[in-house]
Amino acid sequence: MPNRSNSFDVAVVGAGAIGLAVAWRAAQRGLSVVVLERAAEIGKGTTPVAAGMIAPISEALATERPLTRLGLASARAYPDFVAELTDVSGADTGYLNCGTLFAARDPDEAEALLRELALRERLGLPAHRLRPSEARRLEPALAPTLRLGLEIPDDHAIEPRKLTAALGRAVATTGAELRMSVTVDRLTIEADQVTGVELADGQRVSAEHVVMAAGVWTHTVTGLPEEARVPIHPVKGQILRLHDPNGPGLLTRALRVTGAYLVPRGDGRYVLGATMEERGFDTTVTAGGAFELLRNAFEVLPSITELVIDELSAGLRPATPDNAPAIGPGAVRGLHWATGHFRHGILLTPVTAQIVVAGLTGEDPGELAADFDPTRFSGVPVAA
Ligand code: GLY
Repeated sequence: MPNRSNSFDVAVVGAGAIGLAVAWRAAQRGLSVVVLERAAEIGKGTTPVAAGMIAPISEALATERPLTRLGLASARAYPDFVAELTDVSGADTGYLNCGTLFAARDPDEAEALLRELALRERLGLPAHRLRPSEARRLEPALAPTLRLGLEIPDDHAIEPRKLTAALGRAVATTGAELRMSVTVDRLTIEADQVTGVELADGQRVSAEHVVMAAGVWTHTVTGLPEEARVPIHPVKGQILRLHDPNGPGLLTRALRVTGAYLVPRGDGRYVLGATMEERGFDTTVTAGGAFELLRNAFEVLPSITELVIDELSAGLRPATPDNAPAIGPGAVRGLHWATGHFRHGILLTPVTAQIVVAGLTGEDPGELAADFDPTRFSGVPVAA
């Protein structure tokens, strides 16, 4: 039931996958929760554009070990998270055990793939080298010119739009309130303690804790001392949604090649992503962006030309200066961060909710959380 006093334990700013997951988990712990979203519907920001790869092994980078550990923890949490979500919401999330196949087109890419394999072996993560004939046995539509393959069997994918719809229903079952079309103007702080938020229409919402899950729109919320903010900048990604008029079967694994990835939905639909562009808040889609993605995918999967294009869209990834998210309590009491997930928002949804809710309830967030402490940005200037 709506909280008529307009006063809550927790106000979550942003109804993307992460904000909704935090709200769901917090409400399950008995906290009174309101989610405040400026769009008219849930899941309208970056989330619906995301491809939905749950692929911490494919995305592992030598320079980002803590992020890989966090991603692996979140991927491990996903099966139970999805099972419970499906149970309470009655909604499918499109969670798919697809695995990934990396494809190398030329000797340089083959060399790079061997380095990727060596990294995963060092980290003890399952990855298998595939000769071109072996790769084509697994995925017959791959180009005969393929030089080398690398299989990552444990990667998964989920449909972000279905995920947010399921999370919205799950939140509703808890009695938490979802308020759409409300713009949070500023945080209210008294004696170094967050007291809630003020909306653009002047209304106040009192909350003991405010969770910032507004992604690239974080900066639109004012009222925070500069040194307590988390600097976020948008990184644009253009992405295509396609389907095969002949149904499923063209590709069963997620396919990765330098400059593109193609994620199967298991039913003949595919997502081809994604450009990486520093263009501020521009979300226009361009022929050049689509061409780049299609050309890269075509070189390893020529029959991509037979797919029907359903959508070309662009989303804004929320990036921090170190490309790692800010999760947990910040520099002002009562303010918690769940933002800056950059390329990994969908992957990190369950673990982010877990860490943030630990902060809300005063529990130990676990040692994984330490590397993502939002206060590491104290004093880092925030671009306007
Ligand atoms: N996680 C893939 C991307 O951001 O394009």
